[in-house]
Amino acid sequence: MAKKRLRAIMFGPPGSGKGTQGQLLADRFDVPHVSTGELFRAEIAGKSAQGKMLKKYVEAGALVPDELTNAVVTNQLKRMDLRKGFVLDGYPRNVEQATHLNRVVKINIAVQLRVADVEAVRRLVGRVQCVDCEQVYHKTDSPPIKPGMCALCGGNLIKRNDDTKNLIRKRLETFHFMTEPLVSYYRQKGVLLTINGEQAIPYVFEEIMKKTAKLGFKS
Ligand code: AP5
Ligand code: MG
Ligand code: ZN
Repeated sequence: MAKKRLRAIMFGPPGSGKGTQGQLLADRFDVPHVSTGELFRAEIAGKSAQGKMLKKYVEAGALVPDELTNAVVTNQLKRMDLRKGFVLDGYPRNVEQATHLNRVVKINIAVQLRVADVEAVRRLVGRVQCVDCEQVYHKTDSPPIKPGMCALCGGNLIKRNDDTKNLIRKRLETFHFMTEPLVSYYRQKGVLLTINGEQAIPYVFEEIMKKTAKLGFKS
């Protein structure tokens, strides 16, 4: 029988570990990891006209309008062989985007990372990230071997512009209001995996792997 290919999305509040777990999952299944946040930050850093527009939303802790987000994601998906599988991190983020994605490709796993707001804030306040490869670290929970330096590529570690207390609060509000309705959307589709995101990183990953295996996905 042909191997079941993973076509997963990761959703959860800011700081829930979408990037951390999404990368682990993509590595394990040998599929691409696509993060809309990363795509947007690269565009903003390139100072393109589109980047300038994106910046307004990202630095306000708001969602980028659906039309623009859907276009960026569809463009990225077109360049991939979707039959081989993928992990989408941070997309979709509302029911409208989910409906759009459903027209492009059918998702077979929606990983919901559950983390309380207070823990999300604690994590984001301590997060640092590589300027070159975007590898994520946490000052105390997953520190780099050498302070300030990426263990993977040697790049500088910096804080993200949107990891200020005020913007973290706004991003959390946006999540509860706009993204949480995806829980019932994907439950109805029968692909929802709810994960306790408050465990240590390897245990969160273990829970994801156990639950995906139950659905017949073998890495
Ligand atoms: P995005 O980049 O996706 O940001 P986010 O949703 O706020 O999520 P984060 O990347 O901050 O957190 P994460 O869940 O990836 O956690 P991480 O693994 O880093 O989006 C940025 C912006 O782009 C949005 O605000 C919006 O403006 C725009 N945007 C993006 N997608 C969009 C869309 N679809 N539509 C419209 N607009 C969109 O972990 C966080 C920290 O915790 C790290 O330090 C990590 O080391 C640590 N950590 C992780 N797991 C654990 C654990 N289990 N225990 C302890 N520490 C942990
Ligand atoms: Mg992320
Ligand atoms: Zn790096």
